[in-house]
Amino acid sequence: MRFFIDTGSVAEVEEIAAWGILSGATTNPTLLAKEDGDPGEIVRRICDIVGGPVSAEVVSDDAAGMVEEGRALAALHEHVVVKVPFSSEGLAATRALSAEEIRVNMTLVFSANQALLSAQAGATFASCFMGRLDDISVDSTAVVEEIVASLRPGGTTTEVLAASIRHPEHVVTAARLGCEVATVPVKVFRQMLNHPLTEKGRELFKSDWESRPEFVEWLRELVSKQPTSA
Ligand code: E4P
Repeated sequence: MRFFIDTGSVAEVEEIAAWGILSGATTNPTLLAKEDGDPGEIVRRICDIVGGPVSAEVVSDDAAGMVEEGRALAALHEHVVVKVPFSSEGLAATRALSAEEIRVNMTLVFSANQALLSAQAGATFASCFMGRLDDISVDSTAVVEEIVASLRPGGTTTEVLAASIRHPEHVVTAARLGCEVATVPVKVFRQMLNHPLTEKGRELFKSDWESRPEFVEWLRELVSKQPTSA
């Protein structure tokens, strides 16, 4: 499963991109509204950093408006994927944009039926919001499982994107169920790093090595003999 970062913050993208695990990013109007500066510049900057798909969302309610906004957003950067909120108008806009080879991330997908319609309209991604399902006491695991199982037999190229990720367990569930992508907020990425045994193990390796000062010196010399990289 590939990882996107779910944010409108360039600083957060820089932090997680430095880990070498990012394939893309998703923004939405709520996330971008928290940031200072020109939204177009932010989206372009994120595109440059991640070097992969970056979703930027339309806000019109009608298909014609969505298509106009989608074309304009796609023109910001070659990596922009147009995020279209699910509706019948959104389906029509997705069909029109994908006919122009503009990639669409159909967002606010909460059921297998919505995912099936998104796939038929030509969406590149269908974003299923796990946290928001859990918020209304609907089992997000069951819904994501049904979405993946419904799309696969049709041989669709639409990728299931697990969104509204609230904790590391959502990430594992999405991977286990076969989602191609999860878009993860920075807080959850940081939580994914942690395990007490890792920390404890690192400290033990270090202190055991340092109990042999000649080993410490040997490694320092070994490193210093290496040719300097350009
Ligand atoms: C997806 O692309 C959305 O930006 C996002 O995952 C929404 O998450 P939320 O429910 O935490 O706002």
